[in-house]
Amino acid sequence: MIAVFKNFMEWIDARLPVTETYEKHLSKYYAPKNFNFWYYFGILGFIVLINQLMTGIWLTMSYNPTGEGAFASVEYIMRDVEFGWLLRYMHSTGASAFFVVVYLHMFRGLLYGSYQKPRELIWILGMLIYVALMAEGFFGYLLPWGNMSFWGAQVIVSLAGAIPFVGEDLAIWIRGDFNMSGVTLNRFFALHVVLVPLVLLVLVVLHILALHEVGSNNPDGVDIKKNVDEVGKPLDAIPFHPHYTIGHDLPAIVVFLFIFCAVMFFYPDGGGYLIEHPNYEPADPLKTPDLIAPVWYYTPFYSMLRAATFPLFGLDAKFWGLVVMAGAIALPFVLPWLDKSPVRSIRYKGTPSKVFLALFVISFFILGYLGTVHPTPVKTMISQICTATYFAYFLLMPWYTKVEATKPVPERLTMR
Ligand code: HEM
Repeated sequence: MIAVFKNFMEWIDARLPVTETYEKHLSKYYAPKNFNFWYYFGILGFIVLINQLMTGIWLTMSYNPTGEGAFASVEYIMRDVEFGWLLRYMHSTGASAFFVVVYLHMFRGLLYGSYQKPRELIWILGMLIYVALMAEGFFGYLLPWGNMSFWGAQVIVSLAGAIPFVGEDLAIWIRGDFNMSGVTLNRFFALHVVLVPLVLLVLVVLHILALHEVGSNNPDGVDIKKNVDEVGKPLDAIPFHPHYTIGHDLPAIVVFLFIFCAVMFFYPDGGGYLIEHPNYEPADPLKTPDLIAPVWYYTPFYSMLRAATFPLFGLDAKFWGLVVMAGAIALPFVLPWLDKSPVRSIRYKGTPSKVFLALFVISFFILGYLGTVHPTPVKTMISQICTATYFAYFLLMPWYTKVEATKPVPERLTMR
């Protein structure tokens, strides 16, 4: 039996490098020994991606992408399709889980300077994944054709109208109509189920290929390739498979699935944060919800959009809000070139780096909360301060990472 399998693999390998790929990316991919909690979220991102793709395919089988039929087809999935409710909740909870996991994964990058040379491209591909993910969530949110789907998309698409000269035409081009309509729903459906998932998949493959080209960073930010044995294997590394797959990632996946199932079975609408309450009503162009707010994972940027309150250079506040929001998403792309520190990990960086990172995280949370509530003058002022802090983290980084005193980085990995 074993001989048959061996012959079969030899036959395959002579035609397709399966064993070589398995060794390069798993059994002979040497990863630093000291991966910790923060290294769970890459693989968890992968798990959620698969969940979204699989449940998405099955939802598509019963969903009707028309203005007349969309809302009713989601009700049909929830009530009549066998296990349709499960598919839908796996998908809607999965969308939020995706962002939880990706935000934690990105934060790890900030903590350990994983974006620094030679990992700039891994980071940039990651940022492209993040933007694609935001687009995917945005297009998907319209599909149930609930009242918040309708008005949320209406607000965001009409933002394009604030761009001078081309704005109005651009908004019509995006909608495919003068107002949000079934035509818009139809094209968002095509983008959500075909184009963006394809882009995401390609980006994730490139992300991993780029990672495996240069090797993983680690919580110390030490370059493990500097200490190798006589055959060139890094002394501080272990094969990714089976050590990390079985010993590290598998238990994390089990714990994650427990938490995921707890939310999905017992709290699928997350108190209105995961599925917003106005979305239990069909889209109604004549009935604006009391508060139009995006889902939680966009709210930090939504707050920044609303933080711009006055016109400037003859352009209205809405336009500047759009600029601030776009700037906030664009800035992290150039992070590898903003960080001038000689060390990677926060463990060896100075106090200013730690303080700015803490302020950045706190501001992001506050902005996230403020994006879910009605604006008041005080809340708008807090949003403005937090937006300024968000930008300061990036824009002042070339300065504070250069002048601060850093701690000496050890030669070899530490196991804490
Ligand atoms: C679908 C979303 C994503 C998936 C499936 C994914 C997957 C992975 C995996 C499996 C790893 C290796 C394991 C690990 O280090 O945790 C990794 C590493 C990395 N990812 Fe992602 N990723 C995603 C999104 C992102 C985003 C949005 C960013 C940042 C903008 C990012 C930045 C990085 C960086 C910098 C590394 C190298 C970390 C290191 O070596 O310390 N990733 N990713």
